[in-house]
Amino acid sequence: MANIFIRSANGVMDWVNERAPAMMPVYRKHMTEYYAPKNFNFWYYFGVLAIVVLVNQILTGIFLTMHYKPSAAEAFSSVEYIMRDVEWGWLIRYMHSTGASLFFIVVYLHMFRGLMYGSYRKPRELVWILGMLIYLVLMAEAFMGYVLPWGQMSFWGAKVIISLFGAIPVIGTGLTEWIMGDYLPSDATLGRFFALHVIALPLVLLLLVVLHIGALHEVGSNNPDGIEIKKGPKGNRWDANKPADGIPFHPYYSVHDLVAVGFFLMIAAFIIFFAPAFGGWFLEHDNFVEANRLVTPEHIKPVWYYTPFYAMLRVIPDKLGGVMVMFGAIAILFAVPWLDRSPVKSIRYKGWVSKAMLALLAVCFVWLGKIGSGPGTDPMETQIGRVLTFLYFAFFITMPLWTRIDKTKPVPDRVTMHE
Ligand code: HEM
Repeated sequence: MANIFIRSANGVMDWVNERAPAMMPVYRKHMTEYYAPKNFNFWYYFGVLAIVVLVNQILTGIFLTMHYKPSAAEAFSSVEYIMRDVEWGWLIRYMHSTGASLFFIVVYLHMFRGLMYGSYRKPRELVWILGMLIYLVLMAEAFMGYVLPWGQMSFWGAKVIISLFGAIPVIGTGLTEWIMGDYLPSDATLGRFFALHVIALPLVLLLLVVLHIGALHEVGSNNPDGIEIKKGPKGNRWDANKPADGIPFHPYYSVHDLVAVGFFLMIAAFIIFFAPAFGGWFLEHDNFVEANRLVTPEHIKPVWYYTPFYAMLRVIPDKLGGVMVMFGAIAILFAVPWLDRSPVKSIRYKGWVSKAMLALLAVCFVWLGKIGSGPGTDPMETQIGRVLTFLYFAFFITMPLWTRIDKTKPVPDRVTMHE
């Protein structure tokens, strides 16, 4: 039986090969002949997991779109209809809403890995830049998605965030009205956000992900030792001309990653079935109430993944200054490949200064996230927020200095295996 299956699968492959001979080399280049360093660790799972979440978002999004109504009059009740009356609608919606938060968890860990192992350094600057573009589009995609259920937080969150553009001198007010298509978030806003959320941005995201992986596969993956396997000795079990420290992505890493995908899906299922709102972190309580332009919620705050940047906006007293700091905090990440002047890539061979600085950055980011999710009324917290914002920027601005003076350790010639 298995034999018949393999024979017919091979038959289909031969048939396709004869008609499209250019396809097989692409498969080989990116799968069976992509030699990835053999010392990947836990941190190397998150790229694949990001793909899994992306696929989940697209598939569940398609089913939500079948029942959702993009109009201010019907949006909220159409989501209620999906939750109560559409067969399995609740599951599809919770898979999509939980997926949004999981996407950011996975992407933040993926970015942190890049910072730890210097994966942004030459020759992978383009991989990092494309990753940053993905991150920007992802933020816009999630923001617009959050507006669609037309709950209180959808409406007021959209109002606060779009009004930020009003801080821009001269064109600010006009720009805000142009984005909303009205003086407040309205039917017009919902319609355009729907179009952007379900088709325009997912297309851009998909294209960027293909370019991101394409760019990576041109230069090859970095690894926890931050050394180039292409520059090391040649010859492995499969190919005498390929790096000795590389193993074919398929089947070795494809199978290895499948285990992580299994664990990840179990955690995701647990959240979806038992805590889909996640205590108000993944779905805010106020968003279970329909949008009302006459009633302002007590605390308007974005979903957790924006709160570090939102905190920066709130602790700066000047509106334009706050907006510039907030966008600057994201923009500065683009420059990291040129700010890091260390002679070594990986944190493993950097000195204590680099380790302390990276830990400081992580603490600032998480703490700012906590401040941004609070009511913002405590003056002490505002002061702490200012210090943390200062330290966040100090990390990047002084990076060329401390990466140069930090004492590094000798880097091995071959990758090391830490079991
Ligand atoms: C939809 C979001 C994303 C997807 C699907 C994605 C996918 C991937 C995949 C599959 C890999 C190879 C496997 C791995 O190294 O984990 C990778 C590597 C990489 N990604 Fe992403 N990525 C995303 C977002 C980002 C972001 C936001 C950044 C940073 C700004 C980033 C930076 C990198 C870097 C630097 C590498 C090379 C890592 C290395 O070789 O050490 N990615 N990405």
